[in-house]
Order: sequence, then C-alpha cells, then structure tokens
Amino acid sequence: MTREIIIAPSILAADFARLGEEIAAIDAAGADWIHCDVMDGHFVPNISFGAEIIKAIRPVTSKIFDVHLMIAPVDPYLEAFAKAGADVITVHAEAGPHLDRSLQAIRALGKKAGVSLCPATLESAIEYVLDRLDLVLVMTVNPGFGGQSFLDSQLEKISRIRSMIGDRPIRLEVDGGVTRDNAAAVAAAGADTLVAGSAVFRGKSSADYAGNIAAIRVAAEAGRVPRLQHSSVPSMRAGEGVRIR
Ligand code: DX5
Ligand code: ZN
Repeated sequence: MTREIIIAPSILAADFARLGEEIAAIDAAGADWIHCDVMDGHFVPNISFGAEIIKAIRPVTSKIFDVHLMIAPVDPYLEAFAKAGADVITVHAEAGPHLDRSLQAIRALGKKAGVSLCPATLESAIEYVLDRLDLVLVMTVNPGFGGQSFLDSQLEKISRIRSMIGDRPIRLEVDGGVTRDNAAAVAAAGADTLVAGSAVFRGKSSADYAGNIAAIRVAAEAGRVPRLQHSSVPSMRAGEGVRIR
C-alpha cells in the first residue's frame, strides 16, 4: 500500500461572495480536504475569517476541514473551532510559549492536532511534541497572504521533518505557493499533504478546479520517493472521520 497524496485547496483564494458554492465546486472537483486559513491581523498582517464562517460552511461538504490557525493567543479559541466543525486544528509553534499545552487541548477536544512552522523556524521546535501530533505543516511562504512565491529554502526542512517523523502516523503538509510545477519537488522532499490556494482557484468552474487539482496531484504522485512510503500514514479522508489510530 502506498501513502496517499492529499490535496487540500485553501479557501482563502475562493470568491468569498459565493463561498458555499466555491466549496461545493472544489468538493466536486476532487479536493480531499478543505483548508481553512484563519488570520487575526496580529500574529499575521492580515485578517480572514473565524469560527462563525467555518460553522456556516460546514454543512456544504463532508470533507475533512483542515483548520490552520494563524492567531495568537490561540488557546482561548480552540473550543470554538472544534465546535464549528474543524477536523484537524493546526496551531503555530511561534504563536505562544506553551505549544505542548495547546496540542493536548486540541486532542482533548477530540480533534486531530497539527503544528505549523514559519519559514524561519527550526524543525527542532517540534522535537519534543512529536508524539502529540497528527500533522506537521511546513509554511513555504511567510503566513498572511495567498498568491506568494514558494520558498525553496523550505525543501530541506521538509526532508528533515520527514526523517524526524519516522514511522509515526503523522501527515506532513506543505502550505504556500504550491503549484503543479513544484508539487513533485515538494513530494520528493517527503510531503504527503499539499495545500494550494491560487493554483486551485484558477478559472471559474468546477471543471477548471478539477483540472488544477488533478495536475497538482499527478505531479505530486510522480515526485513521491518510494523509500518514504509508509502504509501506517493515515489518510484522514472523508468518511473515515477522525479515527486514524
Ligand atoms: C498563507 C496561507 C496559505 C495560502 C495558500 O498564510 O496559510 O494557505 O493561502 O495560498 P497559495 O497557494 O495561493 O499560496
Ligand atoms: Zn494555510
């Protein structure tokens, strides 16, 4: 069995005036997860949306909601995002001094726990919390905006984190500037979960989105390194709920 590639379109690049329709379109287009970028204008220099919007769009799809919290403080809001319908909740290692506590809180809410690292953050930041993780998200842009260029400097970090993860059932996600042109390199470095915003929401129709998602998936599948394939890595696909252990 090979490790599946998960494609998670970021709805930050969707038309917010038609958000429900846009989510239905990427659902039909073959998105595996729905990536929700929450920004607070404090931890990152932009404001996007919060738990109420996530709650409103939750009924549109049964796909996994992959909620990326770019907010600080984060702990006071975890319960709200859990109740809104998040399946995976990812916090930033840089968002506060008590990452271990935040990760415990996410699992205590019955959700999958993720940690994200900004481009300048060393992978060693997660060394002592690996067993509390279901997902590691490597930022390949500085968080805050869609449509930025992929930072090649992060490929080495992805590769190092892949080694740190070993056989643990942890997904390795990459976010920022991912396109069909760099998806192979991202997967070759060891990523198995690819977020893409502007590269997916290009065109207007679900058919356009399907072509964009398929192109990223095909490139990522082609780039996968056989030695990195683990049957133990969970898929967290829709229908499997969050039971990955
Ligand atoms: C950046 C966000 C990303 C971003 C991805 O802060 O976390 O998810 O929206 O968008 P693209 O793929 O356009 O870089
Ligand atoms: Zn994101």
